[in-house]
Amino acid sequence: MLAKTKITVIGGGHVGESTAFILAMKELADEVVLLDIVENMPQGKALDMMEAAPVLGYDTKIIGSNDFADMKDSDIVIMTAGFPRKPGMTREDLIGQNTPIMKDVAGKIKKFAPDSIVIVVANPLDAMTYMCKKITGFPDNRIIGQAGVLDSTRFMCFLGMETGVSIKNIQGMTLGSHGDDMVPLPRFSLVGGQPTPGVVEKDKLDAIIARTKKGGGEIVKLLGTSAYWAPAAGTVMMTESIIKDKKMILPCHAILHGEYGIEGLFVGVPVKLGRNGIEEIVEFDLTEDEKAALKKSADHVKEVCEIVDNLK
Ligand code: LAC
Repeated sequence: MLAKTKITVIGGGHVGESTAFILAMKELADEVVLLDIVENMPQGKALDMMEAAPVLGYDTKIIGSNDFADMKDSDIVIMTAGFPRKPGMTREDLIGQNTPIMKDVAGKIKKFAPDSIVIVVANPLDAMTYMCKKITGFPDNRIIGQAGVLDSTRFMCFLGMETGVSIKNIQGMTLGSHGDDMVPLPRFSLVGGQPTPGVVEKDKLDAIIARTKKGGGEIVKLLGTSAYWAPAAGTVMMTESIIKDKKMILPCHAILHGEYGIEGLFVGVPVKLGRNGIEEIVEFDLTEDEKAALKKSADHVKEVCEIVDNLK
């Protein structure tokens, strides 16, 4: 008999529920468990999604639960639990509130889903991914942070809006931290197969890059809370590459051991995602300027991790 595929999404807020819904729509697992500590809420959302299935035509079973033991045997655990930003907040302002949640949840992942691949989505992403690794002790290939796909999809979206070219002909690559010093890479971002600097005028490209860096904040200002559709879509893309062993090369937070000259930190870099999680860290041939931007971004990640380490 073929093994069942099971994905657990921890956190039934906007990002968690959107992720569960898209996973079901794409039938990426036999079973999706939506876990949250709020009584009845994940059960209600899961039932609502099950009731949409006859119309939308998916057979994925969605189960809502408050019991962390229900993540048992998950192939992938997606960690979205935590507070979202409010207008005026940086992602790092969430450290105090979200670190205890991450510590608690990571302990439960270790206990109930010790063989799972974990995708961390909670903010501040750089620090939460690091904390998840620290608590679970899972091998490097099984702890992945979601941010680069989101930052890159924003970059691609803005390139599409500017050029009017189909989004299918646009590729984008954003490395580094999930913060304002992220590193969009125009040379590795393509419009109709051509690197963006040859297609988009410099001042327009600079404006797009600046907008990409502040993309999360732009949504927070509009909504009064964090984005969820694009974060969920990015998370699902990573999940799909793992579940279907597609070997997509996507920018994700991975712990580095000397790659890009960075040691012991989770930083957004291109990785190959397959059934074993991170199967390869891809090293781009960066210019000195690009390397310096990535180094600056990594230095910032280091500072944030030190804050989290010293939290009482
Ligand atoms: C964003 C948040 C979710 O970038 O980090 O939208």
